[in-house]
Parts: sequence; C-alpha cells; structure tokens
Amino acid sequence: MTMPRIMFGGDYNPEQWPEDVWAEDMKLMAEAGVSLVSVGIFAWARVEPRPGEYDFGWFDRVLDLLAEADIGASLATMTASPPPWLSRLHPEVLPRRADGVRLWPGARQHYCPSSPIYREYAGRLVEQVAARYGNHPALRLWHVGNEYGCHVRACYCDVSATDFRRWLRERYHDVEALNAAWSTAFWSQRYGDWSEVLPPRTAPTFGNPAQKLDFARFSNDAILACYTMERDILRRYTPDVPMTTNFIGLVHKPIDSFRWAAEQDVVSLDSYPDPYDPGTHVDAGFGYDLVRSARRGQPWLLMEQAPSAVNWRERNAPKPPGVMRLWSWQAVAQGADGVLFFQWRQAAGGAEKFHSAMLPHAGAHTRIHREVRDLGAEIAATAELAGTRVRAEVALLHDWPNWWAVEGEAHPAPLDLLAAHRAHYAPLFDAHVTCDVLPPDADLAGYRLVIVPNLYLLSAATAAVLREHVRRGGTLLVSYFSGVVDDTERLHPGGAPGPLRDLLGLRVEEFWPLPADGTIGLDLDGRPGRGLEWSEWVEPAGAQAIGTFTEGELAGRPAVLRHSYGAGTAWYLATRPEPALMRAVLDRVRAEAGVAPVLPGLPDGVQAVRRHGVDRSYLLLLNHGGAEVTVALPAPAVDLLGDADRPTGLVTLAPRGVAVLRS
Ligand code: GAL
Ligand code: ZN
Repeated sequence: MTMPRIMFGGDYNPEQWPEDVWAEDMKLMAEAGVSLVSVGIFAWARVEPRPGEYDFGWFDRVLDLLAEADIGASLATMTASPPPWLSRLHPEVLPRRADGVRLWPGARQHYCPSSPIYREYAGRLVEQVAARYGNHPALRLWHVGNEYGCHVRACYCDVSATDFRRWLRERYHDVEALNAAWSTAFWSQRYGDWSEVLPPRTAPTFGNPAQKLDFARFSNDAILACYTMERDILRRYTPDVPMTTNFIGLVHKPIDSFRWAAEQDVVSLDSYPDPYDPGTHVDAGFGYDLVRSARRGQPWLLMEQAPSAVNWRERNAPKPPGVMRLWSWQAVAQGADGVLFFQWRQAAGGAEKFHSAMLPHAGAHTRIHREVRDLGAEIAATAELAGTRVRAEVALLHDWPNWWAVEGEAHPAPLDLLAAHRAHYAPLFDAHVTCDVLPPDADLAGYRLVIVPNLYLLSAATAAVLREHVRRGGTLLVSYFSGVVDDTERLHPGGAPGPLRDLLGLRVEEFWPLPADGTIGLDLDGRPGRGLEWSEWVEPAGAQAIGTFTEGELAGRPAVLRHSYGAGTAWYLATRPEPALMRAVLDRVRAEAGVAPVLPGLPDGVQAVRRHGVDRSYLLLLNHGGAEVTVALPAPAVDLLGDADRPTGLVTLAPRGVAVLRS
C-alpha cells in the first residue's frame, strides 16, 4: 500500500474530553497539518458500557468531525483494554504470571491471550466496529489492538496451559517426539502423557530450555492469533482497507515482528528514544532499519513517538528544542511514510497525565506546540517522498527464536543480544553505511555483506543460506557463540559453530567468557586494543588469524579469523572488539566487500540516508552532533525544507539540523 503523502498526526482520545473540546481539536489539528489520527484505541468501556449494549453515537460524531476536517482515521478495533465488566463476569480471562500471581484490571491489557472468552467478546466488538464504520469516509487504515504483548508478554494460567498443549501436539504429534525434542531424559522430566505438560511456571531451579523456547514461540503465536482473529473479521467487511498493528519500539522480545509483518498490509512502530541517552538515536536507527526490512523495504509508519517527555521512565527528560524534529526526520530518512505521536491532547487525568502531547496542558502557545506545527508544515511540503525506498548492501541478521534462546539461563555467561547487535550496528551507522536487519530465512541476494552477531540457535537451513551467500561471492561476518544449538536447544554435534565450521574454516573448542567487566588484550594486524565480554579457544581449520589474543591462557591464539570460501569470504570474531577496534574490523571487512558509505567524506555525527523513487532520489542529512557542519554534495540539489528555487552544492547543518535534498 502507498500513502498519498508522509502522514502526520497522532493518537486522539476524544473520550477523555467533553464534546465542546472536539471542535477546537479539529481546528488546531487542521492548523498543525494533521492528516491521520488513531482513534478509539481505549474506547471499549465507553462504546460497550454493558455486555452487548452499544453506545456508538458519540463516536459517530468524532469520525464525522474528522471527515469534515479532511483528517483520516487510523481506526482502532477498540479491544486493547477490556472493560471492568468482562473480568467481573468471567474472572478466568485475567492473565497469570509464571509465579501464579493474577494480573487484575485497573491498568490495561489485562487479558489472557489464549482466552476463548476474551477472543469471543473482542471479536463481537470488532464485528460491530467493522459493520458500522467500514464505509465511513474518514477511515484510512485499521489499527488492530494496540502494542500487542506490551504488558502481558505471556500467560501461565490453566487456559494457557491447555492451549500450549494443543500447540505442542500440532508441532510434535506424539508425546515421545516431545520428550526427544525437550531432552527430557535429563533430571527425570520425561512425560508419559500430554496432561502432564505445563507452561514453564516458577520452578525450584533452571527450567528446561527447550520447554521455555517453545513456550516463547507459543506465546508469540497465541498473541498473534488475537490479531489475526480481528484481522480476518475486518477483511470480510472491508477487503480493501489496509491493516496495521503498532509494534512496541524498538524491538520487543516477545513479539516476532518478522512473522507479524507478514500478516499486515503496512507495519508501524512506536519509538521512544531516551533524550538522556546520547546513543539513543543509534538504537532507534536499528529499530527503524528492522521494521523497514520486515516488509522488505516497504515504507512504514512511525505510529507513536513523544513530542517531548514520556511518563514511564523513572526520570523523564524533555526533548530539547529541535530534537523532536530531528528524530522525526530520522524516521522518515530510514523509510517511514508517517510521523505520528502519542498523543494529540495531553491527558488531564490518569496514569499518563505527565506524558507530553502535541497540544500540551499549557495550550497552543507553547514551545512544544509550535515545534509540532512547524514540523507539520515541513512534512506537508515533502509529500513527494512518500513511497520512495531505502536500499542497503549490508544486512544484519536478527532472529527472534535465537533471541529467546541465547539469553537463556545456565549458559557460559549472560549475553544481551541487542547489545551485541548494537556493537555491530553502531560502527556502520557512524560510518554512514545503510543496513537492513533481516531474519535468517531472508533472501540474501543483492547484499554484499551479511553480519551475524551471536546466532547461538542456528538451523541447518540457515547455515545453507549463509554458505550459499559466501560461495557466490558474498562476505559474511559471524560473531562468537554462534552455531551452538539447533531449534530444539540441542547441541550441534562436534561443537560450535556447528554447521558453519566448514564455511568459517574453524572449530571452537571452548568458551572462555570474561569476568564481569573484564577485558582481554587483542592485536589486530599490529593494532592493539581490548576484547570485551567473551573469548573462545578457536582451532583454525583453513581460516587465517587476522587478530590474536595477547593475554592470559589464550595469548597467541586467534581472535579474528578470515576464511576464503567459494568466491567469497567468511570472517569470525571470537570476542567483541571494543568499539574503536570493531570499527576498524568492520571498515576492513566492508572495504574488501566493496560496501561504500552513502557519501564519501561525511562529517562525524551526520546521518545520511538515500530514499529512491522511480526517476529521482532523495538524500536526507541529519546532524546528530553538537557542532555546525558543512557537507559537499556531488551535484547541486534542492533542499525541500529550504529555498526551493535555489539548488545548492554545499549544505550547512546547524546542530540538530536536517536537509531533505532532491537529486
Ligand atoms: C505506548 C502505548 C500508548 C501510550 C504510550 C505512552 O506504549 O501504545 O497507548 O501508553 O506508550 O508512551
Ligand atoms: Zn492464560
């Protein structure tokens, strides 16, 4: 699906306000350039005050007002937070934690995803909403649920236990196959009957890792089934209205965005970088590259961001002047066709009353609202960007089942997969290199370089894809603790990196994780530095040592290895080089792979991304640094945010400055 322009707007919760406020909302929205609002997300208790009794009159008026103001509705299915009567009538819809504690109403998302009762009531409401509004002129997009899996990531109740058993039977068919897959010969865990199988509830010590991994898979599927149930109802009423559900930013462990993306027409992401964290825009960049890649480059929507501070961190920093604009354009640069906020009008009560909004408590004559209006005007002036696409020659592989597995307990040392991704991604970001973030079963054709951090869980199929990539001339870089187990958490025979041993030309004999905060000396082709987190005792079998450990028991042993395979090259890192050294490794790997930055000679702190249209392309430049910089362009270009009549060859960016250049 293609947006007619870069959409601009936010969550709109008119049920929190008397009707006479709505007219002012419409006027101010129109003045601010708002083109899309998400409505009805938390309206269930208001539209269905008692079971089966509906009150949609007020909501009709909201949608009519939006249509009159020519503002589109990203219309919610209203099922994100059940009304209090549901759990009073049916207490069994309330979810339970692993320790048995029940989660009560009083906040939101208090439902067991496997509950047939929840699904039935939710489905009935969706029928009502679809039948009533399917032809409404304001309707642009269905907004299914809201941030699935945000608060309740899994449910361990008896209803979920039954559903888990059903899911396992479909996967394993008989209990002996389950016993084999879960290695239940260990610790007397063997099951004689399906009825003995439970979710991994709180246990005396380390639980069965294969059971936990399957439960993570199941929980993702159970929550996804809530989404597809609603999606299928909407499809029946409105086959042509596109569908999305907003992913929690930036990457959310319980929800496999790659699998969910396939079930949507357009993907959308909520993003709340922390203004106190100087590297936060790089983490955001990773999330944006991932969500764009989830539908193979199709433009996505930034569905929520804060105009300034959030309310849910312990300390909530406002966004200083210019930061909201800069980070909004960052999302567009990285492929977004929509910039939306949580929320339009700042709440007067409730748990989010200190969350910033496009229209703050202090009103329209405020710094925040002025910045919102200015941004709305800029976004409106760049409609031609809509539908253009980002291209990348580098792919970083991320896999949800691996994430669930690699951070498991009772491992050589705790690993943080997102930290591993950041260590590989940040040097590329800093070097102005565009990167896609792909699942391991993706088609890798067209990528010169594929980066694989800590792919502990590796299937034979993925190994075959990686081998083929290198054989055909591609470059691959794999980091430690990869190729360890198969998709049932059973060790690959012969040791790590399992099915990648021939491709990488090496064998890992032993894992030597470093002490907490410990480091290890490294030499990379004459350049000294430190390795972080981890080290390994590697025996080369064809690979050449480019870097070695210089200290301790591993002194003199290979730390960075390079192996020619087929027409390509495979690299292996047996530790995590400190950032400067990682940058040096990646610069070399990139140079050999022929991967160039978006523009040569860009100053530090400037992010540069190109979006490609059919016959033109756009270069977006963002100055995340604290100093003014000047960028020399290869050819004069028009800055869509500047003087449209005057092409320029030199772009000066103030701190937090942005340029959108047509070339
Ligand atoms: C999101 C959620 C919104 C709002 C927002 C506040 O997680 O979808 O409803 O709560 O956070 O930052
Ligand atoms: Zn449950």
